Amino acid sequence: MLQRTLSIIKPDAVSRNLAGDILAMIQAAGLTVKATKMIQLTRAQAEAFYAVHKERPFYGSLCDFMTSGPVVVSALEGENAIQAYRDLMGATNPANAAEGTIRKRFALDVEKNAVHGSDAPETAAQEIPFFFSALEIVG
Ligand code: CMP
Repeated sequence: MLQRTLSIIKPDAVSRNLAGDILAMIQAAGLTVKATKMIQLTRAQAEAFYAVHKERPFYGSLCDFMTSGPVVVSALEGENAIQAYRDLMGATNPANAAEGTIRKRFALDVEKNAVHGSDAPETAAQEIPFFFSALEIVG
């Protein structure tokens, strides 16, 4: 099934100039970049994006981190793109991430874990419009 998913290259990776390497891994995995941009999230935007985690102990620290520098957000498309990108990212905690995954290669720890990807179709349907208008996504 052709799907879209939302990718965020997080501040830890952008600040180490890894955005190009990560986008190359995404494309090598067969995913197509339909939209991409670099932005710096405000605190309110980070809190809204991660609202699902607001009761978790790491929420405050996560929002601090996600506003600490620019991120590169992208809308990706491909066959089963949501799971394909999750497979490419690897486990949330890089200590558990498989060889060849983005997080195994680049993540620093469970918070500074280089990338985010939508976890389900309903999430992707919320997360893509959070960052991109229909006009910004190529057909
Ligand atoms: P992400 O996939 O963007 O979803 C929530 C984020 O919270 C996660 O990646 C990490 O950056 C961050 N995080 C920090 N600590 C934890 C934790 N213990 N478990 C899960 N996510 C965490």
